[in-house]
Amino acid sequence: MTNSCSSLESCRSCTACPLSETRDQVVIARGQPKARVMLIGEAPGAREDATGQPFVGRSGQALDRLLKEVGFDPESDLYICNAVKCRPPGNRRPKRSELLACRPWLDLQLDQVNPDVIVLAGATAVDAILGLKQAMTGLRGQWQTWQGRDVMPIFHPSYLLRNPSQAEGAPLDLTRRDLYTVGRRLCER
Ligand code: URA
Ligand code: SF4
Repeated sequence: MTNSCSSLESCRSCTACPLSETRDQVVIARGQPKARVMLIGEAPGAREDATGQPFVGRSGQALDRLLKEVGFDPESDLYICNAVKCRPPGNRRPKRSELLACRPWLDLQLDQVNPDVIVLAGATAVDAILGLKQAMTGLRGQWQTWQGRDVMPIFHPSYLLRNPSQAEGAPLDLTRRDLYTVGRRLCER
């Protein structure tokens, strides 16, 4: 472990991977630190890098809209973070080495939040936590288990922005259903 990651505050000065050289701000999390649901995305984008908050650009707005539609309050019902905390240049996908370097921070977040349910938004988060590389079309909506927690893979919000159809069975509709499924699981537990 190359990070001294006993506290999330020290994440703000992390230099464990080269993304530290090009980032503006480390983006740790937003929402409720003791939420029952932890949502993990991929990596900060431009707006996240500028503000220090995850999912605050167009993807984040799409995500919040969906969450509210199915009855979640994004600020009080979820803890929202990413698989890597610093923006990859040009919004490229994080490299495996960067995901590995940043993993201790994600593990610390999982420890501290101790969520009942983990929502994995997009293929990078699914690969990072579950090690699964199949297409999201097959993985989304299917409960998985990881370290005793229920895990729900969903499409990444940026995919939903590229596929805005409101038709039944379209990615937006499926994601709404997946989030309803998460809500129901919380009621059962
Ligand atoms: N996409 C992500 O995966 N995370 C963000 O914070 C913003 C966009
Ligand atoms: Fe550290 Fe993660 Fe940022 Fe890399 S991406 S510098 S490991 S906080």
